[in-house]
Amino acid sequence: MIDLRSDTVTHPTPAMRRAMYEAEVGDDVFGDDPTVNALQERAAELLGKDAALFVASGTMANLVSQLAHLGRGMETIAGASTHLVEDEQAGHAVIAGTAIKQLSEDPDGTFDLEALDAAFRDPSDAHQAITGLVAIENTHAHSMGQPLSLGYTRAVAEIAHRHGVPLHVDGARFFNASVALGLTPRQLAEPADSVAFCLSKGLSCPVGSIVVGSKEFVHRAWRGRKLVGGGMRQVGVLAAAGLVALSDGPDGMIARLAEDHVNARRLAEGLAAVGGIESAGGLAQPTPGPPDPSRTTTNFVIFRVRGDRTAFLDALKSRGVLMVAYNHGTVRAVTHYGVSAADIERALAATADAVRETAAPPAATPTKADAPTQATAATTATTATTPAGTAAATALER
Ligand SMILES: Cc1ncc(COP(=O)(O)O)c(C=O)c1O
Repeated sequence: MIDLRSDTVTHPTPAMRRAMYEAEVGDDVFGDDPTVNALQERAAELLGKDAALFVASGTMANLVSQLAHLGRGMETIAGASTHLVEDEQAGHAVIAGTAIKQLSEDPDGTFDLEALDAAFRDPSDAHQAITGLVAIENTHAHSMGQPLSLGYTRAVAEIAHRHGVPLHVDGARFFNASVALGLTPRQLAEPADSVAFCLSKGLSCPVGSIVVGSKEFVHRAWRGRKLVGGGMRQVGVLAAAGLVALSDGPDGMIARLAEDHVNARRLAEGLAAVGGIESAGGLAQPTPGPPDPSRTTTNFVIFRVRGDRTAFLDALKSRGVLMVAYNHGTVRAVTHYGVSAADIERALAATADAVRETAAPPAATPTKADAPTQATAATTATTATTPAGTAAATALER
């Protein structure tokens, strides 16, 4: 199988497996695990912050960051389509007892800076919650994994700090952003007060995420981690993989992310040439028509199929390629360690076959008004699964 569903499907490298086997361990709740301590020191150094904390997942990294930055009843300002808002079971409300004020994003993954400035609450008004945090997502998943620039991160931080509020970066794929932008992780992290990043995505570790920030922030996050049941014991066996991933040498996993970005772009270019594959619409690609390969700047490719999406994914699977149903009726493919340039060519051939088997015919002369948007996406997805669509796909196959 060529598994393009996510970069979370990556397996640990041979160097990681060796390091995990050989890891020195201790009880990390006592702070005794030397491998965890080394990983946390390395992460803090790499991102230019005072301290770091190893946690179980990206969701936990965001949660303990919110617990550390916010008191109950406070409010975070964040992009409406971010993981923090959409995909964490409202942990901010359930566990941290906070609200989120959502700002809509543009297709470059940013929200408007004037809208941000205007979104801060008035603490002198007893009706209002108190704004306590601004959060951005880098790379920004729903915009097809766009990396947010250093200039934008600085501008957001400047506004947040002017209002006396810290900036948190959900950097689940932070290293994809720094590699795509040609910046060191330290440069890109500099404006932020805290950064969360995942070891278990493009960096190929089996488990784990890290949050970095000031010593005081990390101390509070460490207390939060225990609160949510995230205190782990001889967890150096997992941290060892992270140390390999963040290393500078040939076993390190950061620089090689560039290869994933090249493969993703090639996939996007190939898909653009396959009839029956269309723009994702919405934030991922606002312009209608064929997929625009220039939207792929990191390791995400998001598109829409003209026919039945489930049938397409099944047809693709039967040809040894996995992609995944994504938001608003789209399909997502993500490149990662273990997927080679040759795999991309095989995936493209399989996609062309699967589309031929399942695609509906093109709609009559599309107009600008037909451009898929997030609002219409759900409808499009529904209509695409009608029996008429299936019959048309069969006709096309012949
Ligand atoms: C932007 C972003 N943040 C956070 C997470 C959460 O990571 P995890 O699945 O490790 O909880 C994800 C996972 O896909 C993500 O894409």
